[in-house]
Amino acid sequence: MLDPAHHPLIRDRLARLRDAACPPSDFRRHVADIARLLILPATAHLETSEVTVTTPLTSMTGHHLARPIILVPILRAGLGLSEAFLELLPEATVAHYGMARNEETLEPEIYLERIPEHVAEAEIFVLDPMLATGGSAVAAFNGLKRHGATHLHFVCLVASPEGMACLRHHHPDVPITTAAIDEGLNDNGYIVPGLGDAGDRIFGTL
Ligand code: PRP
Ligand code: URA
Repeated sequence: MLDPAHHPLIRDRLARLRDAACPPSDFRRHVADIARLLILPATAHLETSEVTVTTPLTSMTGHHLARPIILVPILRAGLGLSEAFLELLPEATVAHYGMARNEETLEPEIYLERIPEHVAEAEIFVLDPMLATGGSAVAAFNGLKRHGATHLHFVCLVASPEGMACLRHHHPDVPITTAAIDEGLNDNGYIVPGLGDAGDRIFGTL
């Protein structure tokens, strides 16, 4: 499958999203469009199980997803992706992690955790547009694993090389699907060139 970072539609939407003049209404739309385009690569290796399907003409062997799906948007900015994922995966359960990065220490502070009981048997997609230092994503996977989760995935729009390395180091079992890997982090822990503060741009709280 084509690397999402090289897909023309994703590159087009991402360039529009990065533009500092893009207003929140367009920003939300581009975030959702890229999320829709990332669903196929992010789910490409999910296990399926065989089922017998009776068509109007005959019986055949078809395939269903082997496990239930849980989406875990990291609040706030992850909500921009979860709505798009739910359109294609309406049967998914939505869990939530509320996290805000302390802008001095750059450490994530958890203010909400809502994890459903069937977390151990499900395919879990943690959704957050930004993988910067990696602290927020690592904290989310630490929490999910404490609850027994094992089938884990991470989907973001823009990652830094530092964030990729951090997440791979702490959770090497988690595949990462991203629309872009940027140059690096600045002194404030922002991704460069990046797109700024994703949560503020989605919700217009700049
Ligand atoms: C942003 C972003 C990630 C986190 C990434 O959230 O959405 O959750 O920062 O940074 P990290 O990889 O260095 O942890 P933020 O804390 O700004 O909260 P918000 O979504 O409410 O704006
Ligand atoms: N959080 C964001 O929203 N953007 C960054 O570049 C880094 C952290």
